[in-house]
Amino acid sequence: MTGIIGAMEVEIEKLREAMQIRQVQSFAGMTFYSGSLYAQDVVLVKSGIGKVNAALCVQVLCDRFGVERVWNTGIAGSLDARIRIGDIVISSDALQHDMDAVAFGYPKGTIPQMETSVFPADLRTIALAKSVCEEELSELSAFCGRVLSGDQFVADPKKKQELSETFQGLCTEMEGAAVAQAAFLNNVPFCIIRAISDQADDSADMDYETFEKLAVEHMVRLVCGMLKRMQELEPV
Ligand code: ADE
Repeated sequence: MTGIIGAMEVEIEKLREAMQIRQVQSFAGMTFYSGSLYAQDVVLVKSGIGKVNAALCVQVLCDRFGVERVWNTGIAGSLDARIRIGDIVISSDALQHDMDAVAFGYPKGTIPQMETSVFPADLRTIALAKSVCEEELSELSAFCGRVLSGDQFVADPKKKQELSETFQGLCTEMEGAAVAQAAFLNNVPFCIIRAISDQADDSADMDYETFEKLAVEHMVRLVCGMLKRMQELEPV
């Protein structure tokens, strides 16, 4: 069973429409839709925005649904001039850019007293996403690299530059690294699959609504392609 998390309604609605829903349950104020999508068992949920919601959502997926893997889908702001609106970013790993214990001598982004602060994504899911991008979505540009997350909508060129220089992230959003940390603590593989909605600079709020739709469309095509490919690999 695959847990699929989107933060906002717009990020899950198209997937929910395509699903055959067997059960709808509420936990921690979130609605979980269980059923099948392209013959794969999935639980789809809108976590709400931000790291706390995302982490709680993963815990429910692990405890109540026993998910085998977690995918975090949605949109993100680009931190790299090569990565444009509508492009795909697949996580190689994820970190929280707003974790700050610098006063205690920890580098920025380091979580004190944890064995790691950079959470590596599931290699099999990365390979699956890359192959769908290459073989079925070749008109889209796809990148694999670090995803940064923080409880902050980044819409400032200085902040954008600071983030990309400090952490070498490809994109920034508000949930992925929290999903990653919660998945890591539960020993569950994860991957973040995002499409770019804005450039995370002073054009970000202007671009956002215009390009959100396009980005969501690309992300949904990729996630559906991945599920279809899983069906082909492991026929049910
Ligand atoms: N999600 C989409 N764009 C974003 C941005 N610029 N900052 C944080 N989260 C985002």
